[in-house]
Amino acid sequence: MGQSLLLKTINGEKCERPPVWFMRQAGRVLPSYLALREKYSFHQLMRDPVLASKVTLLPVYDLGVDAAILFSDILVIPEALGMHLEFTDKGPLFSSPVKNNYHAIKSLKADTGKLNNIYKAVEITKQQKPEDIALIGFCGSPFTTFCYMVQGNSVQHTFSEAIQLIYNDKGMAKHLFEIITELSIDYALNQVKNGIEAFQLFESHAGLLPYELYIELVLPFVKRITSAVRSAGCPTIFFPKGIAAGLKHINFDIADFISVDWQDSLNGARDLVDKRVGLQGNFDPRIFSVTNKDVLIAELNKYKSFGRSNFNWIFNTGHGLSPDNSFENVKTAVEWIKTTNWGR
Ligand code: CP3
Repeated sequence: MGQSLLLKTINGEKCERPPVWFMRQAGRVLPSYLALREKYSFHQLMRDPVLASKVTLLPVYDLGVDAAILFSDILVIPEALGMHLEFTDKGPLFSSPVKNNYHAIKSLKADTGKLNNIYKAVEITKQQKPEDIALIGFCGSPFTTFCYMVQGNSVQHTFSEAIQLIYNDKGMAKHLFEIITELSIDYALNQVKNGIEAFQLFESHAGLLPYELYIELVLPFVKRITSAVRSAGCPTIFFPKGIAAGLKHINFDIADFISVDWQDSLNGARDLVDKRVGLQGNFDPRIFSVTNKDVLIAELNKYKSFGRSNFNWIFNTGHGLSPDNSFENVKTAVEWIKTTNWGR
């Protein structure tokens, strides 16, 4: 028992195997989650601290992962800024997206009390979790959150109005990044205060911007959030999905670990990223939908040589799990990671 494998790895200890957890590990593949969803809406599960805490810990018991990620959503930040949000069959839907309306952006006002139930969920989870399981908190990175706030939905994955706003009026875009960043820092620090042990910043849509623009315009805001969290003693993981060769600009000033998508190999990413920064990733979650287990095991085996010599690595997927992934396959992967001789 004692400190979790995840924290030992983040702190630079040489461990016998990589720790494993998955993005979206709770709310997509677990039969136990789907059973709860028969009774409760997603919003109900997320808003009730006891239920949110219960869902947070489901993957620890059902899949055997080494860490639990808080059951919430990145879009609680726009909600706390006064935007009305619904989760529909087509994904999240804001009734009044800010578009390129300066007055709409100016009138956003943080109601921090709306986030209190989430801190309560962190506190309860911290009390109830096994000692050797790490609790990860999170929020959306300012650009991804901005995309939803401007566009209002993710029906088209291009977020064209959000991107247009950036090219047309950088000042207005930065003003909105600023509003999101300020609340995100407060939110993240309160998660730390209530017991999270690591913090992940999700930039799921980094790939929508040319990376030089991303580095120039967005990364300073990312750094403000991660620096605040690190100053409070909590390590950070940054997930800039689709940043591609922009990885070469990610150094230890930005985060302790970088989560890598599946486009590049881990070795390729390792060559680009500052050596002091650990890697997380990057198994293609679509492999969890294969019907032939030999295919799954063959794909997992490809990670052995990287894992043998890289101690600062957390096994994860290159993006979140999805409902079409097989629960059994995900469970098999966790078991494989835990029982494989990594030759370290
Ligand atoms: O294991 C977990 O599910 C952890 C909690 C978690 C959720 N969302 C719950 C959720 C986390 C870490 C997120 C992050 C999130 N939310 C991101 C960043 C990561 C990523 O996946 O790219 C983004 C972009 C969102 C916004 C969001 N929330 C979308 C686009 C959707 C609909 C599509 C989808 O992914 O299902 C959601 C809904 C959502 N968030 C669900 C859950 C469990 C599905 C709700 C349900 O119907 O049960």
